[in-house]
Amino acid sequence: MKHNDLDLKNWKKIDINTDSLWMINERDKSGKHKNIYHGNFMPQIPNQLIRRYTKENELILEPFMGSGTTLFECEKLNRKYIGFDINPEMLEYVNKSMNDGNYTKNFYINHCNSLDELQVNQNIEKAEKNLILKIYNL
Ligand SMILES: C[S@@+](CC[C@H](N)C(=O)[O-])C[C@H]1O[C@@H](n2cnc3c(N)ncnc32)[C@H](O)[C@@H]1O
Repeated sequence: MKHNDLDLKNWKKIDINTDSLWMINERDKSGKHKNIYHGNFMPQIPNQLIRRYTKENELILEPFMGSGTTLFECEKLNRKYIGFDINPEMLEYVNKSMNDGNYTKNFYINHCNSLDELQVNQNIEKAEKNLILKIYNL
């Protein structure tokens, strides 16, 4: 079964890292990526993983969202997204960054302790309902 939208017959020509050591020269600072949060991903890392392991419109769950790097890549790559974080400042920051367009129907972020199974299950339920409702409201 194919897990992505990549043309695997031409995999050598695609900019997907297949080595065990990824050499990334410069952080992608384009678009919403601001590099303001300690320990944030270089955007190229989630970008590579999303394109390698998912197809367009599939859903990505990130239990430790931080400053939204993966969400911003999901928006760019047309994937749906559910993200949780325990830090309310990050939720506020990411919500502000996402206030600008059509993608609002495709993501759900919420305050959640991702080590608490009950909170995670409740939030996933809410997120699924919210995403489905938003999709049906199109
Ligand atoms: C290293 S940062 C993630 C950075 C993110 N990948 C980015 O690029 O911005 C880890 C995040 O996990 C959150 N976190 C830590 N413990 C958590 C928990 N139990 N539940 C949910 N979020 C948690 C922190 O608030 C922090 O924002």
